[in-house]
Amino acid sequence: MRTNADSLAARDVAVAQIAAHAGKRVRLRGWLYNLRESGKLLFPILRDGSGWIQGVAFKKALPAEEFEALRGLGQESSLEVIGTVRADARAPGGFELDIEHVTVLQAVSADEPYPITPKEHGIEFLLEHRHLWLRSQRPTAVLKIRHEIIKAVRDFFDADGFVLADAPILTPAACEGTSNLFEVEYFDQKAYLTQSGQLYAEAAAMALGKTYCFGPTFRAEKSKTRRHLTEFWMVEPEVAFATLDDVMHLAERLVTCVVGRVLERRRPELAVLERDVAKLEAIQMPFPRVSYDEAVERVNAAGGGMVYGTDLGGADETLLSQQFDRPVMVHRYPAAVKAFYMQPDPERPELALCVDMLAPEGYGEIVGGSQRIHDRELLQRRIAEHKLPTEPIEWYLDLRRFGSVPHGGFGMGIERVVGWICGLEHVREAIPFPRTIYRIQP
Ligand code: 4AD
Ligand code: MG
Repeated sequence: MRTNADSLAARDVAVAQIAAHAGKRVRLRGWLYNLRESGKLLFPILRDGSGWIQGVAFKKALPAEEFEALRGLGQESSLEVIGTVRADARAPGGFELDIEHVTVLQAVSADEPYPITPKEHGIEFLLEHRHLWLRSQRPTAVLKIRHEIIKAVRDFFDADGFVLADAPILTPAACEGTSNLFEVEYFDQKAYLTQSGQLYAEAAAMALGKTYCFGPTFRAEKSKTRRHLTEFWMVEPEVAFATLDDVMHLAERLVTCVVGRVLERRRPELAVLERDVAKLEAIQMPFPRVSYDEAVERVNAAGGGMVYGTDLGGADETLLSQQFDRPVMVHRYPAAVKAFYMQPDPERPELALCVDMLAPEGYGEIVGGSQRIHDRELLQRRIAEHKLPTEPIEWYLDLRRFGSVPHGGFGMGIERVVGWICGLEHVREAIPFPRTIYRIQP
């Protein structure tokens, strides 16, 4: 079938590529973002996922029925337009489209208008309409930055000789404590949605030396904070022979690389989000390292009320991170408040060789990691102390039976990193379809 595009020799282009077609006739396909009318002129704004562009439809330049079809068109109707690209310094992207043809693919009816309008909507309304809200400018910018972050993470590990080995999602045992497990029926047994791929990454590290897994993880978090999802994505490197110092160095290198990549490639999206980029430009190595003991003193000196021996709460993390212009790494927490697998500090065995990296500006913990226990007896003792069932992780003890070596790694929560880099109020905006204690729709 010959279309208008064929007969007019119009090339299909994406809005993002429009600058390369100035003066040329093109076809754009997308959705109507907005429509302004002024006498014989219509000014539709078209978006196609790659960008936004304003068109100018002059009544005499279009077949009459096409002009009329455009005139009444509802927001988010899908359409194709053919026109000539014109440079215009006043236009937001530097270009406008002089429209010659409009083909409406699906018209949004006036009886059932698109629910998200340029006016302010409440957050609950927007979350209920997340499947549509994704089309708006802010969510689109966040998704593009999330994409860039994930790509940067994978490129970083790839360039550093890490081999991807993903962990299962259906698991027989807990990794991060038993209080927030999602239990599922698994034929005639019980299984759990993974809280972390770490135990499997440890097995892969003994096979590959340097490995990482990257996938969704699940926690039945009852807490309703701006930092918690019940389903989130975590990237978890694991390295044979790594010490706690190696783990911290790897984490600061990764985070610096990710921030640098977003600054290099996603400035326009950061601008849409009105992100203060100076705060991101300050993210340079080395990151400060603060022991847990010092962290408690710093938090309390800043007006906090931390009791020595307890974990840092969200407010404590904020009091501490505000003291630095870049992420701070808190190491050597009391073993009693941390996971069973962490290697004790040989100098003070009541402390664990672990690290939490806290993002600046109060965004909280973005990385949690440690050196792992490599001695089988000590590991068995810890499993017993934590009252964990041994049978489902018998295989994990094998790693300490056959060529055990010191090793370590960490987990970085993608939504926490996206939330921080984008300057979001809540991590639920950092993932396409958030899952929280109160939300599993849409
Ligand atoms: O500190 P966590 O619990 O560490 C682990 O799971 C280790 N097994 C990782 C490892 O060493 N391989 O979680 C790691 C990170 C946190 O620092 C945080 O960024 C993120 O995962 N995270 C969450 N993000 C969103 N919602 C939640 N409920 C999260 N819980 C943890
Ligand atoms: Mg943690």
